Amino acid sequence: MQQKVFIKTFGCQMNVYDSNRIIDSVEKIGYLKTEKYEEANCYILNTCHIRDKAKEKVYHEIGRVKKIFRKKKKPIIIVAGCVAQAENKEMLKREPFIDIIMGPQSYHKINDTILNHIKSKKRQEETEFDTIEKFNYLNKIRNKDSNVSSFLTIQEGCDKFCSFCVVPYTRGPEYSRPFDQIINDAKNLIKNGTKEIILIGQNVNAYKFEKNNDIYRLSNLILELENFSEIKRIRYTTSHPKDMTEDLIECYKISKKLMPLLHLPVQSGSNKILNLMNRKHNIEEYLLIYEKLKKINKNIQFSSDFIIGYPGESNQDFNDTLNLINKINFINSYSFIYSPRPGTTASNLEIVKKLEAEKRLNIIQNQLFENQISRNKSLEGKIVEVLVENKMKDKIKLFGRTEHMVSVIFNGSAANIGKIVKVKINSSNQNSLFGKIVEIQNKKVA
Ligand code: SAH
Ligand code: SF4
Ligand code: F3S
Repeated sequence: MQQKVFIKTFGCQMNVYDSNRIIDSVEKIGYLKTEKYEEANCYILNTCHIRDKAKEKVYHEIGRVKKIFRKKKKPIIIVAGCVAQAENKEMLKREPFIDIIMGPQSYHKINDTILNHIKSKKRQEETEFDTIEKFNYLNKIRNKDSNVSSFLTIQEGCDKFCSFCVVPYTRGPEYSRPFDQIINDAKNLIKNGTKEIILIGQNVNAYKFEKNNDIYRLSNLILELENFSEIKRIRYTTSHPKDMTEDLIECYKISKKLMPLLHLPVQSGSNKILNLMNRKHNIEEYLLIYEKLKKINKNIQFSSDFIIGYPGESNQDFNDTLNLINKINFINSYSFIYSPRPGTTASNLEIVKKLEAEKRLNIIQNQLFENQISRNKSLEGKIVEVLVENKMKDKIKLFGRTEHMVSVIFNGSAANIGKIVKVKINSSNQNSLFGKIVEIQNKKVA
């Protein structure tokens, strides 16, 4: 009987890429991907540890899976990702239902670990940081992701140790994949029909690979990838202000396919808080990047992540963040209340009172939403370029994104998927634009 694997993915784009690659790998030992969890012989949870009660959420999820399979044969249960890395053996001890624990830098071992488990019936734990082996292995397996817009991991891990963040502990030290390996991965994606590549990494703009005494950076990758005629758009995320080097800024001048939206998390608008967070940059440096980019192209927009209520955040610090939001007019941004993470240097600091933090989050989100609503409203009546990604769930409307990643929903045939079309916007809300196709690849639509 055909073996089926179900994977549920939490967290960031890195996990989305990893989950796709895990599927590519286990197919080699006979497991085909299923979207129906109840028919899985292998059930993988790819977890995230970034905030809140990450660990408890995983146990809760396992409890759910247990119930589903109460009267059926138990599938192999694998907990992968950042919670697996952080908790490792503890999870096996606490939850007998789990068979395999696998950290994010051990996926090259996934097939062997599953086979070992089946043979020996022993529970397994793999949480070494073997990033080089992981990517060398994945490079040998064809990337089958066939989305119009695909993630491509070019860099993993982090050496920056912001005082609130678990990533350096769960993903390990910074590692940049070899340049040629990335191009090879991209060629596979192109063969599968990808039109937009989103280069990803926890510190994607720290990408640095040395070959024959030459240094290759993110800018080199962007310029190389845009030579492929099939690729229409290039993006990258997530970047750190400290690594916004001149060559990357210059890229916005010379690249024809790099999109004019930069996700550059600032976390706070207060230098005092940035310093306490060990962010290694200040607001003046951030604004300088903003000004340089706006000078190159005033159409470039910024998006960001904000942490609200970081220990020591006064009302003044909070107002500094609000002022920055109004100055930069960020779009598509995320904001979270600070969540103490075990093992990080900030974990024992006195936190801002919950009610106060919630009040501040509310104010920030309202501001971000208001800016977003009025920006979307300003596009009504205008024509925007949209890369068509897929059909909506209703199977009637199409879904695509503008150059600034804003979702656009409109009528049209599936033949337009993968194409750039021009859409006239009729209406909008906070998250989406709605309109009508007026041009498909330079041809007017009646
Ligand atoms: N490398 C990226 C961010 C990766 S984590 C950077 O340096 O900006 C993604 C986002 O999660 C962060 O930008 C931050 O806003 C949020 N985050 C990380 N740790 C957090 C914590 N302990 N509490 C609340 N938000 C957190
Ligand atoms: Fe976390 Fe800071 Fe590294 Fe980003 S730069 S992943 S926030 S430690
Ligand atoms: Fe979460 Fe790990 Fe990504 S903690 S945000 S899945 S790097």
